[in-house]
Amino acid sequence: MPASPAHNDFRSDTFTTPTPSMLTAMATATFGDDVYEEDTTTNTFQAEIARLTGMEAALFMLSGTMGNQIGVRIHLAQPPPHSVLCDYRAHVYAEEGSGLAVLSQAMVTPVHPRNGLYMTAEDVKRWVVLGEDVHVAPTRVISLELTIGGVLTPLEEIQCISEFARAHGIKVHCDGARLWNASAATGIPLAEYCQYFDSVSMCVSKGLGAPVGGVLATTSEGIKRARWLRKQLGGGIRQAGVLTAAALVGVREVWPTMAETHAKTKQLEADLKGLGVVPQIPVDTNFFFIDAERSGVDMGVLLEQCEKFGVKLMDERIAMHHQISEEAVNNLKMAIAEAVRITKELPEGYVSKVQKGGYGSTSKMNEYS
Ligand SMILES: Cc1ncc(COP(=O)(O)O)c(C=O)c1O
Repeated sequence: MPASPAHNDFRSDTFTTPTPSMLTAMATATFGDDVYEEDTTTNTFQAEIARLTGMEAALFMLSGTMGNQIGVRIHLAQPPPHSVLCDYRAHVYAEEGSGLAVLSQAMVTPVHPRNGLYMTAEDVKRWVVLGEDVHVAPTRVISLELTIGGVLTPLEEIQCISEFARAHGIKVHCDGARLWNASAATGIPLAEYCQYFDSVSMCVSKGLGAPVGGVLATTSEGIKRARWLRKQLGGGIRQAGVLTAAALVGVREVWPTMAETHAKTKQLEADLKGLGVVPQIPVDTNFFFIDAERSGVDMGVLLEQCEKFGVKLMDERIAMHHQISEEAVNNLKMAIAEAVRITKELPEGYVSKVQKGGYGSTSKMNEYS
């Protein structure tokens, strides 16, 4: 079997490509019209997600962004003022083109977690906006990203946040783009995580490797509203089966390989430690964020070396996934070793030929590093 074009691509798990069995499933999918809810493959996929998450219903989305934006908006039926409380690095806030402002007319309370890693109930209680004072926009939704930067949030913390939210009539949305990873890493079933949420949006085109999409799971009432909003955004898909067939293969065949990907990431962490290269935040799942300063690595030099060694990186984040080859991992380690060596001898004011790309959460996950 030829290697995936993503075999040497460490930029993100979004670069994963459909597997041969996904392509076969796409070719043999049913071709019903999903706007009329007539597609068997899509209905099977959605039922499977509802079962796995323990939610009443699920709806295929064209992207994780669409799942997040609609997932939050279904909870905001009232006109503003209202606000969403989330981590300052959260994708739903920082990387979705101001969707919360435009689509939900929501204020955002971006929280800097005290532990520098993930939001806790203590953070939520500190920053939540309660009451009806006319000066404020009350918190109506708390959004938790799992994993965030690959870091796990303990289940007990999620439970505490959820209990607090429910006691105050606040909905809890989960950006579970990588909830698959959290579950694979901890062994905690998706449904056990999801019992604490009112909605969860999960991606199928990241670690699961499907070419397109995500899925929103919530109450039947919520899905009814989500279907309407999805249509409004142009996300009513006709022969959706070609996409959901691949997503189903991702769930059934790629998800079970995720623990192995995490083990490889841990091994990479151990090997990089030997070179003096340390991460910004814990390596709990499939990401290693290089702490360039503490590791003595000039990022421009590293990206030059990556080009030389034939591996793709765009910034501090090394993203592992099921299609990364052993050869690519070795090449990446050689590129990093070279970058460490060259950085030590860099002349004052050196400007690298390759400029670091990336943004926010793909580059800097710890504001103190
Ligand atoms: C945590 C998180 N949530 C949501 C998304 C959005 O997914 P999509 O790119 O499918 O819109 C991403 C994408 O990288 C993500 O990392």
